[in-house]
Amino acid sequence: MRVPVVTVFMAMVCVVMVNADIQPQRDFNLQRFAGRWFRVGLAYDSPEFTPYRERLRVSMGMITPLPNGNVNLTMWAMRSSGCVSKLYQYERTNVPGQFTYFSTRHNKMKDITVVETNYTEYALVLKHKKFEQEYTQVALYGRSQKVKPEIIQKFKSFASSRGFPRESIITPPPTENCPPSGSGR
Ligand SMILES: *[C@@H]1O[C@H](CO)[C@@H](O)[C@H](O)[C@H]1NC(C)=O
Ligand SMILES: *[C@@H]1O[C@H](CO)[C@@H](O)[C@H](O)[C@H]1NC(C)=O
Repeated sequence: MRVPVVTVFMAMVCVVMVNADIQPQRDFNLQRFAGRWFRVGLAYDSPEFTPYRERLRVSMGMITPLPNGNVNLTMWAMRSSGCVSKLYQYERTNVPGQFTYFSTRHNKMKDITVVETNYTEYALVLKHKKFEQEYTQVALYGRSQKVKPEIIQKFKSFASSRGFPRESIITPPPTENCPPSGSGR
């Protein structure tokens, strides 16, 4: 299929514009961001992920800041084999609130931007790969498994403004006993 060069160029300009204006939380403070979070919302439009939308549950994450400004993020999720944890290592950049990490699943470097957080209640996080919506996610984290409706609304509006279709913006049901109570908390 031949696509006119100008069309490709226009599409690229649009994608760049979508990501270019995203600034991290002003005066981002990693120490205040540390600790336990629950991922209570996810916008993800990868065709590969579509069959799993229904099965998604809230998952718990633990942010551990390292002395050099990098971050270890441990996430727990229910699999058919039971509750499993996975470690993600986010590397700092010169911009506070902005990290990079290597996605082993997609074999690509990605940018992580903490777009907005008030530390005690919620955080809106954009994980993106420039030019590729398929690899882009918006996540809403809450300090508890339930967040206020206004915050859910903020997340949905933000994800829509980034071009995610409505059906790709999910607020999954709670998870039970993952990690098992008493561990990791
Ligand atoms: C972060 O993760 C690395 C790799 O697993 C581990 O060696 C290190 O001890 C972790 N650091 C902290 C503070 O948890
Ligand atoms: C931010 O955090 C405070 C608690 O420190 C909370 O009362 C407030 O409602 C939060 N939410 C928003 C949207 O600012």
